[in-house]
Amino acid sequence: MEDRNLLSCEGLERSFRDSRGSRLILRGLDLSLRRGELLCISGRSGAGKSTLLHCLAGLLRPDGGSIRFEGQAIEKLSETRRARLRAGPVAVVFQSLRLLEHLSVAENILLPGLFAGRRRKADEINDLLEELGLGGYAEAMPSDLSGGERQRVSLARSLMQEPSLLLADEVTANLDRETAEMILGVFDRLRSSGRTGILAVTHHPDLIGMADRHLRMEDGLLAEPT
Ligand SMILES: Nc1ncnc2c1ncn2[C@@H]1O[C@H](COP(=O)(O)OP(=O)(O)OP(=O)(O)O)[C@@H](O)[C@H]1O
Ligand SMILES: [Mg+2]
Repeated sequence: MEDRNLLSCEGLERSFRDSRGSRLILRGLDLSLRRGELLCISGRSGAGKSTLLHCLAGLLRPDGGSIRFEGQAIEKLSETRRARLRAGPVAVVFQSLRLLEHLSVAENILLPGLFAGRRRKADEINDLLEELGLGGYAEAMPSDLSGGERQRVSLARSLMQEPSLLLADEVTANLDRETAEMILGVFDRLRSSGRTGILAVTHHPDLIGMADRHLRMEDGLLAEPT
């Protein structure tokens, strides 16, 4: 049977070894996501939400299980192929912000596109910055931005990829209500296009409220919230 999911994973396992010994963080987790779907995942700090996103983005190799994105087994792809996915159809917005400090806002946003061989017009960047409340910031340097502004620049960078999968880790955390609402608006637009599936790790009630599904991460698995 044809897999109609944009993303699916089965039996995902990942453990970490540290001073406390080896700890199993993901314990055989299953997940599926369709295009046009917004799935929110919440759960206590340290539950493994970011670990899951890193595995799905191909940044961390699972110890067991499989991940399929548009039918391809992510965990079997080479480093280069996985990096190419992240510059194109798979966009990741991280909890820890990764902007290149010596490049301007506009250059940061353009970078993945250059890597993937796409050209963008200045107008497109400006429209996107405007939508995220960052109009006029194109030439600013990251060091001149606030934490929330940097967060939105990294979201803008992801959106320029026109991704079919957006993996977002706590993108509305530490933002005021008005700014968080801008991001919710962008997510809604993206979902409505029907081309993109969004997996958002979040505790934001309004974002969870507009989700198609909400799951909680507990004991290394995903479960319906009680
Ligand atoms: N590289 C690593 N090496 C060792 N342990 C790690 C590593 N990355 C994560 N962990 C551990 O795995 C567990 C899950 O971490 P993770 O970052 O996935 O949690 P989280 O659910 O995203 O938490 P938060 O809500 O605080 O962001 C934590 O106990 C963390 O200490
Ligand atoms: Mg996290």
